[in-house]
Amino acid sequence: MAKKPVQKQEVETTGHSWDGIEEFNNPLPKWWLYTLYVCIIWAVWYSIAYPAWPGIKSATAGYLGWSTRALVAEEIAEVEGRNAAINEKLATVELASIATDPELKTYATSSGAAVFKTWCAQCHGSGAAGAVGYPNLQDDDWLWGGSVEEIRTTVAHGIRQETDDDTRFSEMPAFGDDYLEPEQIDAVVNYVMSLSGEPKDASVVAAGMEVFAEDCASCHAEDGTGDREQGAPNLTDAIWLYGGDYDTVKETVTFSRFGVMPDWNERLTEAQVRAVATYVHQLGGGE
Ligand code: HEC
Ligand code: HEC
Repeated sequence: MAKKPVQKQEVETTGHSWDGIEEFNNPLPKWWLYTLYVCIIWAVWYSIAYPAWPGIKSATAGYLGWSTRALVAEEIAEVEGRNAAINEKLATVELASIATDPELKTYATSSGAAVFKTWCAQCHGSGAAGAVGYPNLQDDDWLWGGSVEEIRTTVAHGIRQETDDDTRFSEMPAFGDDYLEPEQIDAVVNYVMSLSGEPKDASVVAAGMEVFAEDCASCHAEDGTGDREQGAPNLTDAIWLYGGDYDTVKETVTFSRFGVMPDWNERLTEAQVRAVATYVHQLGGGE
């Protein structure tokens, strides 16, 4: 057995021994011990002062009331405070004068772009190019009107929601519901196709023209160029909301469509509605 090491001081051992090496039971260094105590106290204080203990619905709030949500809300409030004056101006000036005030126009366009990304892009696409049933807002083909005032009205009051008197409303009948015979539908579909391109069956176009004059012209106009009062699309320009092939036009005429857009004046402030109207107006097709 190896010789026991010489002990410098009289210190108890823990009784553990490995290959004759024994473990002293020295007290912990003071600096280490006090650091540990400070850490414990700090941890207890922290868990009382800050959100810490998870509950079923949310964690304890902590007496300092600190929260990341509150910080964000504060930052938002600060930005809103800074923009309050210009938002007030945007919400109250003559709409047409926004375009002639460079500062206001820049602000409206950039904040309108942000509103668009948040609230409009889902339906109209992030670049506003639209999709089937959701109009392209970049071109100058308007269902309801392309001046900044008209766009504001459309956006603020919505389409076919029946929420207030200014809401855009019209309803194309479903001509398949006993209004027209299948041959009449076939004829008028071919006539509509002939307005902007080649019909599927040229022999019935003349008959279709008669049906059109009788049943469609009241909304789409005698010459098929549409009527913005009723949101009736121009059928002569080869720009299609739903599609211009035989089957799609036939589906539209047989069952009709009922494109709906929410009204935004309840969700957005007047300044935001005007901003997004300004943004849409300057995308290219504004009148
Ligand atoms: C839930 C889908 C949806 C959302 C979200 C939506 N729209 Fe629309 N929007 C439509 C539909 C559908 C139409 C076409 C309705 C019709 O057939 O007349 C439309 C039409 C429009 C028109 C009329 C275009 C024209 O040719 O006259 C404008 C302007 C417009 N939207 C702007 C906006 C703006 C700005 C937002 C965001 C604040 C927005 N839309 C959000 C569905 C939506
Ligand atoms: C009461 C008015 C009204 C009448 C009558 C009417 N339409 Fe329409 N039409 C509309 C409206 C409004 C839309 C847009 C539908 C939507 O967005 O929901 C539309 C859309 C269409 C479209 C889709 C165009 C596209 O870009 O995809 C076609 C095609 C069409 N109508 C053809 C006809 C034909 C053919 C008739 C007659 C048989 C007719 N309409 C009668 C109001 C009318």
